[in-house]
Amino acid sequence: MSYRVELAHAADLEGFRHAVRTAMAQGILPDEIEWAPPDSAPGLALAHALPAFANPPPPRVPRAFLELAEVVVCHRSPARFQLLHEMLVRLQSSPRLLQDRADPLVDRLQDMGKSVSRDRHKMRAFVRFRETTDADGQHYIAWFEPEHHIVRLNAGFFIRRFASQRWTMLTPDESLHWDGEAAHFLPGATRADAPEEDPLEAIWKTYYASTFNSARLKVKAMQSEMPKKYWRNLPEAELIPQLIATAESRTAAMILPLDPPRTPSHPRVGGYLETQSEGGNPGLSSPLSSLASEAAICTRCPLYAPATQTVFGEGPSTARLMIVGEQPGDQEDLAGRPFVGPAGQMLDRALAEAGIERANAYVTNAVKHFKYQPRGKRRIHESPNAGEIQACRWWLDQERAQLKPALVLMLGASAARAVLGRAVTVGKERGQLLALPDGAAGFLTVHPSYLLRIENAVTQRAEYARFVDDLRAAAQAAR
Ligand code: URA
Repeated sequence: MSYRVELAHAADLEGFRHAVRTAMAQGILPDEIEWAPPDSAPGLALAHALPAFANPPPPRVPRAFLELAEVVVCHRSPARFQLLHEMLVRLQSSPRLLQDRADPLVDRLQDMGKSVSRDRHKMRAFVRFRETTDADGQHYIAWFEPEHHIVRLNAGFFIRRFASQRWTMLTPDESLHWDGEAAHFLPGATRADAPEEDPLEAIWKTYYASTFNSARLKVKAMQSEMPKKYWRNLPEAELIPQLIATAESRTAAMILPLDPPRTPSHPRVGGYLETQSEGGNPGLSSPLSSLASEAAICTRCPLYAPATQTVFGEGPSTARLMIVGEQPGDQEDLAGRPFVGPAGQMLDRALAEAGIERANAYVTNAVKHFKYQPRGKRRIHESPNAGEIQACRWWLDQERAQLKPALVLMLGASAARAVLGRAVTVGKERGQLLALPDGAAGFLTVHPSYLLRIENAVTQRAEYARFVDDLRAAAQAAR
């Protein structure tokens, strides 16, 4: 017998959930079902609708499956629903299956999830709205060609960001219109439905050309971060070939005048490309460095806006020890490198006492942008919240996946939350070796800035000694 399940849209997770419960309650197998989103080919003449089943019991699913399913349903592969069904069936007898990276189904689903998440990120980074006017006033329209069915997945992001405007996002499969109060999903469109240029574009292009730093031009990194297919929709893109072609002569002209050393007087003055590429990621292999250049334009949470730049991890790609802090501080934000301010100096001293060469470790943070409150001329550190940590796990997880460290040393509660995916009380779990799902060991200790905040000198000395002991134990475990 074969069954056909009609879905309401291409990424219909709710429809899938309901039908898969009904199927599993009746022992219907994954290869007996043809999943049919609206764009699928007509079904077999003999296919039936699933037999009804009142209140089918929900299958047992780990949270990681729900998170994975949310992105995998957006993948363009016609097999996506069947693969998820197969995984659900296998999870009933092997609840930890998703942790087994060697399993081909796990591997395939994880790859699909990553591809969708990358596409979601590209859409957030490269969509450009163009201004139009209609009978109701301003209306912004964007054209974008995603690789997967991600319009609904990204809807919340764009709605939150442009809540008070009226706008429409056109894509070939499906479009999204926000009327200022409610979202409407509309049929797909063509590029010709979108406006070609808006009045602000000339100004934006002039600005782009004047800030384009030819001395820092890295064509390959630029092309891998911003593949050509996205250029077509970016107003500044038409300038790029010309700017690349003339980069050499522009650079020569730039270095003729004496170049005084620049100390940024304001967080933004430094210019992120300069500090990012100079502060550098010494020793990063190309997957990690291309991750770093992707992260340089990260807008996954609002923290990117007031920060000077993304502060990505640094260290050799062969490091066995990964050290995770909380987030860059004021000095890290300006320098573009982790742990270079007061907490970094405290960390360096303790690492040296524990016999750890910082240069052999990979040092990074749970959150890659500086979160702060402006107070006059000062910027007062503010801890990232759970949502910001979650948004930035996207980068930390990929750093971990690329580096595959033997031991992940977590400094403080934010790092622990990012690595372990749950709230942690440092006092309770400090100093133990923890098994992480990817096979690495985890080790939790305090954050060096905790030591800096202790006022009593005797207590501070004792706590510092304990910190060094923890680092020694972690180094031993990493070996
Ligand atoms: N504190 C951190 O957690 N990370 C840094 O990079 C600097 C200070």
